[in-house]
Amino acid sequence: MTQATTPAAKAAEAFQRLHGRAPEGVWSAPGRVNLIGEHTDYNDGFVLPFALPHRIAVAASPRADGVLTVSTLGDDGGVQDADPVVVADLVPGIVTGWAAYPSGVAWALREQGIGVSGGADLVIAGDVPAGAGLSSSHALECAVALALLDLAGVDAERPDIARWVQRSENAFVGAPTGILDQTASLCCVEAHALFYDVRSGKSEQIPFDAAASGLEVLVIDTRASHSHVDGGYGARRAGCERAAGILGVPALRDVDIAELDDALVRLPEELRPLVRHVVTENDRVLRTVDLLRAGKLADIGPLVSASHASLRDDYRVSCLELDVAVDSAMAAGALGARMIGGGFGGSAIALVPVERHDAVEQSVLAGFSSRSLTRPRLFTAVPSAGAGRDR
Ligand code: GLA
Repeated sequence: MTQATTPAAKAAEAFQRLHGRAPEGVWSAPGRVNLIGEHTDYNDGFVLPFALPHRIAVAASPRADGVLTVSTLGDDGGVQDADPVVVADLVPGIVTGWAAYPSGVAWALREQGIGVSGGADLVIAGDVPAGAGLSSSHALECAVALALLDLAGVDAERPDIARWVQRSENAFVGAPTGILDQTASLCCVEAHALFYDVRSGKSEQIPFDAAASGLEVLVIDTRASHSHVDGGYGARRAGCERAAGILGVPALRDVDIAELDDALVRLPEELRPLVRHVVTENDRVLRTVDLLRAGKLADIGPLVSASHASLRDDYRVSCLELDVAVDSAMAAGALGARMIGGGFGGSAIALVPVERHDAVEQSVLAGFSSRSLTRPRLFTAVPSAGAGRDR
């Protein structure tokens, strides 16, 4: 037997081994990077992610006894089993840890009246680096959602699936996150970045071919851990909502960049930096999209770097590792660099001329080692396909 290599093949092979039969199907979903548009999604704003080639795959078959079983294949080939749960009994709070992600999706779909209560066997395998801020948990949730929907014979729209997955994450897992990551995983297509307007739900696929401009997007996984279940993420989200209330608008999306100064003076001191970040970041997304539409990919660097400065100084969600990654990439010739995702750890991206790749990589590694930080992991990211059925 040949060795399974892709996550989909690994999940199918592990399913066969664990359950003694082939799965009914295999579905997979990618992790993401976000080019620009951070902490804008829950302010009804704009985002511009693309999908990574790294994916989480779910091999699945329906059951008839109402039970959901979930097994995960580790990097070492070992298998971790979640405690089996009865789908009809799922309520927020009864499943904790990693198993809350797949169970929460079953709960959210059941709440939508989708016929998932017969139960299912799920076997998961993937290569999205976990805990790296590259949305491995959302990739898992999206792959599980597609699997359970297909097994139930339900053909749903991707933006609806993204909303159900978000509900699972917010209400079942308990992380007050927005809709960026699910939308990226479900709606991105190869060779494009997804320009998504969270308020209207309108999206546009923007061609993104860095190599054609002699560039690449380097991902720097700082290996500094992050979590959005508690702490800083929720506090900032609450601050944004409070500011919108004081300004009398439904969301900070409604504050135009031309009105920013007027808006700031109406706010208490502590909310001003949050609002300044969100309003300027939305503007940076729009300007980035304009440049990409005009074929000026090499010119987006300053906007990318300005996003980092704003996240670091105004939104205050960066950390030492992310700043070292960004500063050392820039010092070695990156055109722009920024932290991505929620912050407090995770990954940064750098827009790098191909001929500067080695210099940037060396500079980042040296920056980390001179501060005795854990060695980061670097790889080049190419916009890849969104979630789908593999077999
Ligand atoms: C995390 C959340 C997203 C988004 C980003 C910040 O990745 O899951 O919804 O808010 O942080 O842009």
